[in-house]
Amino acid sequence: MDVMDAIRKRYSCRSYESREVPADVLDELLEAARLAPSARNFQDWRFVVVTEPKIRENLCRQALRQDFVRQAPVIIVACSSNPYVMRCGQRIGPIDVAIAMEHIVLAAVAKGLGACWLGAFKPYKVRQVLGIPSHIEIVDLLALGWPAQAGQSPDRLPTHRIACRNRWTF
Ligand SMILES: Cc1cc2nc3c(=O)[nH]c(=O)nc-3n(C[C@H](O)[C@H](O)[C@H](O)COP(=O)(O)O)c2cc1C
Repeated sequence: MDVMDAIRKRYSCRSYESREVPADVLDELLEAARLAPSARNFQDWRFVVVTEPKIRENLCRQALRQDFVRQAPVIIVACSSNPYVMRCGQRIGPIDVAIAMEHIVLAAVAKGLGACWLGAFKPYKVRQVLGIPSHIEIVDLLALGWPAQAGQSPDRLPTHRIACRNRWTF
């Protein structure tokens, strides 16, 4: 599957089979993250891949009880240890982590998996559950697994509403 196919096929999957994701598939997804770009090649992202049912159940409670999170056989907790702000004023940590996470998502889709980003969670609780040190920032979570049913994305704005040429014309 080429990248555009994976991009078009991706949607936020909120229904999963209980079937496990094989370890070699997870390794390949982490390879996709490892190869992502990062500011000054810091690579200050860290990922906790949670497959143990009791820990997943606990994470689901911290993800505001979004039920589909309980179904997903894998939850990836994406963290950053990068404290820096770029000259442009943007923080490096969340940007780098987001790029790596989307590498994971698209690689997952290319393998027939589904995934859903999760920003609705209590970071201080997730920290407790996984023993993540206080200087590490928990940026986002990702539910991952085999889709239980087909899904699709909500509509998008047309390109001319989100991009202009040469000058700001919005
Ligand atoms: C940073 C981020 C956080 C998100 N958090 C959640 C979440 O907590 N729960 C959820 O169900 N979906 C979450 N989503 C999924 C968005 O709702 C979804 O991407 C958006 O509605 C577009 O739909 P699509 O992904 O199916 O194309 C999140 C997406 C992003 C990028």
